[in-house]
Amino acid sequence: MTEDAGIPVRNPEVSPFTEEELKAIKAQFPVLHQEVNGHSLCYLDSAASTQKPQAVLDKLNEFYSRNYSNIHRGMHTLSMRATAQYEEVRDIVRRFLKARSTSEIVFTSGTTAAVNLVAQTWGRQHVTSGDTILVSEMAHHSNLVPWQLLAAEKGAEVLPIPVDDRGVLDLDGYHALLEKEPKLVAFSQVSNALGTVNPVESLVREAHAAGAVVLVDGAQSAPHMPLDVVAMDCDFFAFSGHKTYGPTGSGILFGKQELLEAMPPWQGGGDMIDNVSFAGTTFNTPPMRFEAGTPNIAAVIGLGAALEWMMNLGIDRLAAHENALLARATERMAEVGEVRLIGTAPCKAAVMSFWSDLAHPQDLGTCLDQYGVAIRAGHHCAQPVMTRMGIPATARASFAVYNNLEDVDQFIEALKKSLELFA
Ligand code: ALA
Repeated sequence: MTEDAGIPVRNPEVSPFTEEELKAIKAQFPVLHQEVNGHSLCYLDSAASTQKPQAVLDKLNEFYSRNYSNIHRGMHTLSMRATAQYEEVRDIVRRFLKARSTSEIVFTSGTTAAVNLVAQTWGRQHVTSGDTILVSEMAHHSNLVPWQLLAAEKGAEVLPIPVDDRGVLDLDGYHALLEKEPKLVAFSQVSNALGTVNPVESLVREAHAAGAVVLVDGAQSAPHMPLDVVAMDCDFFAFSGHKTYGPTGSGILFGKQELLEAMPPWQGGGDMIDNVSFAGTTFNTPPMRFEAGTPNIAAVIGLGAALEWMMNLGIDRLAAHENALLARATERMAEVGEVRLIGTAPCKAAVMSFWSDLAHPQDLGTCLDQYGVAIRAGHHCAQPVMTRMGIPATARASFAVYNNLEDVDQFIEALKKSLELFA
């Protein structure tokens, strides 16, 4: 695996998509074929949420039109079909993550729900007064605030793993913090605000050596790179369906079997029980123990279609294509005066955060929209790293496999014109 530039690609010899293949990929996204404000839509907000390919739209339509029913409860044909399709997705996710067993795959509504689940179960069980939790300074709020809530309840402390001026984790700082023997280390594999790809395997190895359990937020890595939770050896891994070309309201918590088995339930309700009586209730085994109530069945089934779609495309090829987009965007950004990239790690996903002294990111976002270019502006739910970089917010263009070099050029030309308005 090469990790020196761009998204790590497991097979560096991977063949890039041909022009025809790229056209065929984009053609599968109906929403991208429209004009916005008189310009062809240039969608560069995929880190917030990806668009959905026809295969996912068709799957949702087929499910609601032909097979819809509640799951795990009915003996009738539709319920059995729906249950079978839902449970098949667990195996698709297992393959996507290269996990050992489907019992390690818990369906959630997204990354946020997955992290909160771990905080409220494993966390409440294990974290006690005086304990330390380490969270990367570039973490998304969803992988920081749940730990702060837990720490406040238990009398523990949450300490930041520092980042340097490029947005790279300060490993000396990390090693010094590990001497505190933290109970938990939590970080994102890829930073949503900066694009930094963190070296998960070594971070996990060192955390384990210090006795910590590790949770990896994969919300921004799952859409972009091949994953292998066994190689990473992380204890928990979370990601969201809506960022991996799937529906909103679907997400995954991977947990090592022995950890999930020892964890108490969080939410109580149907499906998560073994036997219920007023004298006492016993609970189902994982993963069902953590899936109370009727879930977002269609979203899970749509997520299965999305992950199959990604795997059929070839995630190495997808990553290589996004590396090419990032390289072009970084090169062309240098032509644009008065703009500073925020996040210049050598190993980056296709996310470009930037700041200009000429205009607030939100004003830039509004101007770019007038040219059909959709970006995100704000603190990206990562306020600590914005503070670290000395700015309140950034404008952020983020790429996905359906983007092409023309999108990069449309974005750069629109950015130049937008900045001229403020010069
Ligand atoms: N976490 C998402 C983002 O980075 C919403 O935009």
